[in-house]
Amino acid sequence: MTITGTTKLAGVIGWPVEHSRSPLLHNHWCASHDIDGAYVPLPVPPGSLDVALRGLQVAGFRGVNVTIPHKEDAFRFVDRKTQSALRAGAVNTIVFEDDGTTTGDCTDGKGFLANLHAHDVGKSRHAMILGAGGAARAVAAALLDSGCRITIANRTLQRAIALRDALKGGEVVEWDAWPGQLASCDLLVNATSLGLGGSAGYDWSGSLSGAAPDLIVSDVVYAPLMTPLLQAARMRDLKIVDGLGMLIQQARAGFNAWFGILPQVDDTARALLLHSLNGN
Ligand code: ATR
Repeated sequence: MTITGTTKLAGVIGWPVEHSRSPLLHNHWCASHDIDGAYVPLPVPPGSLDVALRGLQVAGFRGVNVTIPHKEDAFRFVDRKTQSALRAGAVNTIVFEDDGTTTGDCTDGKGFLANLHAHDVGKSRHAMILGAGGAARAVAAALLDSGCRITIANRTLQRAIALRDALKGGEVVEWDAWPGQLASCDLLVNATSLGLGGSAGYDWSGSLSGAAPDLIVSDVVYAPLMTPLLQAARMRDLKIVDGLGMLIQQARAGFNAWFGILPQVDDTARALLLHSLNGN
């Protein structure tokens, strides 16, 4: 890759950011579509998002992805928000517009739905969502807005109630009660950090004992790809959807806005990310 004065620039802001696989993915898409573009990791400490964004905008960047811990600050920063960003209460994709304004989107929820679709999963009727953080909110909003009935369970009940109130929809169950309600669900989504890094820490197998045979089990955690939840689901012959596809799907809209092409999710991109995840 040769970077010149005309190269289109984008990147990902986070703290820390070195773990992000977004540069790998976007630069792969630039190369495979023969685009004169580059996507760089941008470590920005908490409290410095505004000054970083203004600087990047002045320096000619097309836009950025924003990740932990900046998604809520990004929401406050942008001049205009998409409906998805408003529903998620967070922004993960910023476009620096030609007129000097900024537009913020949250592509996590759409990425989640697109990944289900890519796995031939039809429209869900009733989803059990575990968690009440940013990931859970984006997924819950997307499912709710697609017409799905949702039930939210979170270790801290108050956060689940706050999420339901913010979304103005859905039901809440106590954390210990969600396995007992699984029989009526056709989709289970783990949007907690349980399973991150492969740590078990929870009896997933026992919790799945009452699942309907057609339950789809999905995880937003993608490192490792086969999380303890997905392993338990597979042992019970339930269909699983891993989190890697969501990571790729959520990146497409930003790439399209900055570089002008909506990339397809192919096996090459997936293999590239998988190789990178396995190597670390
Ligand atoms: P994010 O914004 O990435 O979703 P977060 O706001 O830190 O991250 O949320 C992490 C989620 O994982 C929360 O729902 C958290 O539950 P609490 O609200 O009770 O903290 C959930 N979580 C983390 N560790 C957990 C554990 N050991 N058991 C159950 N839930 C857990």
